[in-house]
Amino acid sequence: MTNPWTPASWRNKPIRQVPSYPDPAKLSAMEAKIASYPPLVFAGEARRLKAQLAAVQEGKAIILQGGDCAESFADFNANNIRDTFRVLLQMAVVLTFGASLPVVKLGRMAGQYAKPRSSETETVGDDSFLTYRGDIINGPEFSSESRTPDPQRMEMGYFQSAGTLNLLRAFASGGYADLHEVHRWNLGFVERSPLAARYRELSSRIDETLRFMTACGMTSDNTREMRETDFYVSHEALLLPYEQALTRVDSTSGDTYACSSHFLWIGDRTRQPEGAHVEFLRGVRNPIGIKVGPSSDPDDLLRLIDTLNPNDEPGRITLIARMGADKVEKLLPPLLRHVRREGRRVAWICDPMHGNTISTAAKVKTRNFDSILTEVRRFFDCHAGEGTYAGGVHVEMTGRQVTECVGGAHKLTEADLGESYETFCDPRLNAEQSLELAFLVAEELKARRVPPSAVAAQ
Ligand code: PEP
Ligand code: CO
Repeated sequence: MTNPWTPASWRNKPIRQVPSYPDPAKLSAMEAKIASYPPLVFAGEARRLKAQLAAVQEGKAIILQGGDCAESFADFNANNIRDTFRVLLQMAVVLTFGASLPVVKLGRMAGQYAKPRSSETETVGDDSFLTYRGDIINGPEFSSESRTPDPQRMEMGYFQSAGTLNLLRAFASGGYADLHEVHRWNLGFVERSPLAARYRELSSRIDETLRFMTACGMTSDNTREMRETDFYVSHEALLLPYEQALTRVDSTSGDTYACSSHFLWIGDRTRQPEGAHVEFLRGVRNPIGIKVGPSSDPDDLLRLIDTLNPNDEPGRITLIARMGADKVEKLLPPLLRHVRREGRRVAWICDPMHGNTISTAAKVKTRNFDSILTEVRRFFDCHAGEGTYAGGVHVEMTGRQVTECVGGAHKLTEADLGESYETFCDPRLNAEQSLELAFLVAEELKARRVPPSAVAAQ
């Protein structure tokens, strides 16, 4: 028997990764304030996304989820939002055209401000302060004051999410995402790379297709799909006081939705079936993700799926595998097999980032682009071996030309990392590496496409 769910029932469960706020009264006042603010997303949008994710589960679409590891208050500006949006759209075009499938586009944007950490404190020399847990909780500067959790930051998180979402919606529906513009999207970041030629070739094929469609009477003026795109946002549901404050009962269905974002996921460190984070997500009707790391056990995973989706609702669960290139072939197949054998409806996508983080001799966190590509290829191999559907990718990336991951077409080395290492948390793919990954995924999808009829029969 499970106990009745309420937006606050997570408070009676064991919880991990919680910040301890020095002034609980200030925290409660901020929760009440945010609870009085308008929702950031509308329940109908989350339902629409869920229907699109149900199509992924049937092998009829692909998911592209990407963005910063941690968004930063200091980096909140139009250029950053536009650049990440543009690269995600370019990746989506490569995937759509390459795989002949619709792409569900999910930004790790407009709310990705809270981070789970492996240590409570950070020590430098003789000083030891609380670890940085993301801008919605404390500040990245290494000082006692900055590292003290401050509820006021939740309000900044809310308003910056609102601002980001507003611009994303404008880009998605205001003409910027018009397919006719594809070839005009800045390619400066790949100018000197073999990818530029590849992308241009693809965009001229798209142009040709669009001219054909125009000749047949389908134009941006009369066809919404060519003029606009659906773009959704997502983040890790980690800071539960904030998430609870943004739950709303949908007036059309009477169901409760988390209205901080369209899609929320549970991190690898907070997915205990009896824990607070699972309890919170159990009762909201959004589509949700579960990170599936090396410690996942097939029976526990099934229990988690059943707790979060007792009625096996289509589109509700996306499993985000993040095993590491060297572990995925051993650890993923038993999970794929078990979930398939028990007949649960899920989409599987590959996060090739979080199992491949390494430290350089100079103790800089990085990821090798080759390991990332290897994990993606092996993820596809595992699905091909089990007869299941590889539904897409989840990546940490930015539209900027940072130097945070080594390798890629420009063969970045450890010595290059100092040039433009800007992340507040994990190393991200830069624009060029992101596009390169999209070409690889498109090839994999094309080569191994399971016909939707075969997926439906599984
Ligand atoms: C993340 O996605 O940034 C993250 C912390 O992932 P995981 O929970 O899989 O470690
Ligand atoms: Co990360």
